[in-house]
Amino acid sequence: MEKIRLIGESPSFLSVIRTARLVAASDVTLFIQGESGTGKDVLTRHIHAQSPRAKQVLVSVNCAALPEHLVESELFGHRKGSFTGADQDYPGKFRAASGGTLFLDEISELPLPMQAKLLRFLEAGECQGLGETVPTIVDVRIIAATNRNLHEMVQNGDFRADLYYRLNVVPLFLPPLRRRGGDLSLLLRHFTSCLSEQYGTAPPRYSKTIIKVLQQYHWPGNVRELRNFCERMVVLFSDHELSRENIPPEILCPEQRGDSSCDRFILPEGGIKLEALERELIIQALSRAGGNRSRAARLLGLTRDTFLYRMRKHGVE
Ligand SMILES: Nc1ncnc2c1ncn2[C@@H]1O[C@H](COP(=O)(O)OP(=O)(O)OP(=O)(O)O)[C@@H](O)[C@H]1O
Ligand SMILES: [Mg+2]
Repeated sequence: MEKIRLIGESPSFLSVIRTARLVAASDVTLFIQGESGTGKDVLTRHIHAQSPRAKQVLVSVNCAALPEHLVESELFGHRKGSFTGADQDYPGKFRAASGGTLFLDEISELPLPMQAKLLRFLEAGECQGLGETVPTIVDVRIIAATNRNLHEMVQNGDFRADLYYRLNVVPLFLPPLRRRGGDLSLLLRHFTSCLSEQYGTAPPRYSKTIIKVLQQYHWPGNVRELRNFCERMVVLFSDHELSRENIPPEILCPEQRGDSSCDRFILPEGGIKLEALERELIIQALSRAGGNRSRAARLLGLTRDTFLYRMRKHGVE
């Protein structure tokens, strides 16, 4: 089996890992929360591998990917003839995971009637498929995960409160990468070295300045986005000292994203002097770009020519 390595040494990450280790040994239900790409899948595999069930199966179900009319039969199974198209018995994922672990990913997307059925399973270990007259007891450890705010969903009536509290016995919250301090450079080194080895190329080199740029970015796609970025750098800039020009613009100047800072700019009550503000922004952009006009232009979302024209207009040298 593939060895699972969870990289990180920031206090918020280590605290999750510590809790995960403590609870791996028991059968307690776990609930992993975290933004997309923070490592919910890898953490689940890690916990299963550390648990006494490690030699049994780990079955993963993405609740968001199940068509609504098939959720019940997919999870709990069905008897032949219990509905049109059920031409043979189907055990369902709970029974398939018997003795092992069932990972219910994107649990927030489970339809309300299925939430009730899951609760029954969690409270009594009972699994009753479509067309079955009596429930059977199945031995499965449940790990659920979501990247949504389930508590908010409960308040809006979109998720059952009783199930939420039943799942939330041991909550594990994977912090977003931007709140994990030094983990970024650690993961950067890890991915760069693994991927360079995989591609058989010399790794690109990251200066302190470039690492600082990466640390200032907010990484909405978290560790997955960082891994993909590292792969791109390994492929394009093998054996190369990276400079700002090599960094994708959305990382370099996040203010140019769709949800840019301009959306949040609110005109003060007393108004502003646009000409003076433009001149001031040009000077600040030049200073932040260390005098490099192309980079300063990019910081303002302008082409170099337009930027030079505006510099001349405001008499900025
Ligand atoms: N701590 C870590 N150490 C090493 N690799 C990691 C770590 N965390 C995440 N990864 C890697 O980042 C990628 C995304 O992780 P994963 O699929 O577990 O995220 P997720 O939280 O399940 O995302 P989603 O919400 O989109 O399902 C994977 O390639 C995984 O191997
Ligand atoms: Mg996932």
